[in-house]
Amino acid sequence: MPFNLFNKSLLTLKDFSAEEIHYLLDQSAELKAARAEGRETQRLRGKNIVLIFERDSTRTRTSFEVAAFEQGAQVTYIGPSGSHIGYKETIQDTARVLGRMYSGIEYRGASQQNIEALARYAGVPVWNGMTDEEHPLQVLADLLTMREHTSKPLSEVAFAFLGHVGFNMGRSLLLGAAKLGMDIRLGGPKAYWPDERSLDYVRTLALETGARITVTEDLESAVKGCDFIHTDVWLSMGEDTSQWGERIQQLLPYQVNSHAMALTGNPDAKFMHCLPAIANKETVLGQKLYKEYGLDGAEVVDEVFESKASIVFDQAENRLHTTKAVLVATLSKCL
Ligand code: CP
Repeated sequence: MPFNLFNKSLLTLKDFSAEEIHYLLDQSAELKAARAEGRETQRLRGKNIVLIFERDSTRTRTSFEVAAFEQGAQVTYIGPSGSHIGYKETIQDTARVLGRMYSGIEYRGASQQNIEALARYAGVPVWNGMTDEEHPLQVLADLLTMREHTSKPLSEVAFAFLGHVGFNMGRSLLLGAAKLGMDIRLGGPKAYWPDERSLDYVRTLALETGARITVTEDLESAVKGCDFIHTDVWLSMGEDTSQWGERIQQLLPYQVNSHAMALTGNPDAKFMHCLPAIANKETVLGQKLYKEYGLDGAEVVDEVFESKASIVFDQAENRLHTTKAVLVATLSKCL
């Protein structure tokens, strides 16, 4: 059944029903198939969208740009420097200016309040490209990827997110799972759990949807019987890099390695990561962690990242298809 998402912003999955999320996933799958079969039709000709990145990106930026180009829209990129945003122009004024010129606005920055203000003042759809609280577009890609790699309905899927569970990815996956009635386990030290208010919110949702929510410090309880194991970097963009030592000490027991995968008891369990990942010492940061802490990989290691269980690049590709579905659904009247 089609849903009218025209002109709707995507700031958080809280604002979307389970049916709307399933609809976006169905449209993503259809757009993916149409692209692969050379039968994609352009529904965004004549549209202009602006991408505001107060922080760096590979996947989010490129998925927006390619999705827009393939659908016939034009894109303007505003990076961490080079505009007045936040220094001598408020987010409200920025919203009112950009809303006069563009059909929609993507925003990546620290503050969920900023993106809410953008949406209040812009008069056009605003899409969350990641804040410290939420990464809903990533979750749509993650849900599509899980759907592609299981024969079960999503409501019967069990998955774990390990590590820094109270930051944007843990929180957003929790919301997505609670909405769709999934079995989600957050595994990490209590100090990193989501705040009680957020947990109360998803537990209330779970009463309606049948979601099973576990938040635990015990690795085995977190992963046992899971179909998918997710993780993310232990220190996110914008966090103080002096915290690496403490993070490693606290989160190393939740590293996704062969032991953690074996604890699932499921030989077909898959590994997922929104990327970028620190899986080895081949990057500048990976080399630094190796030299300073003796780590060859951090939240995941190559024995899992490069294994057959890893579906991280399917997940990365799905950023394109899910972003495209959101752009088409919110900017064009028919899908
Ligand atoms: N996963 C994700 O949001 O990637 P980027 O930081 O590269 O956009």
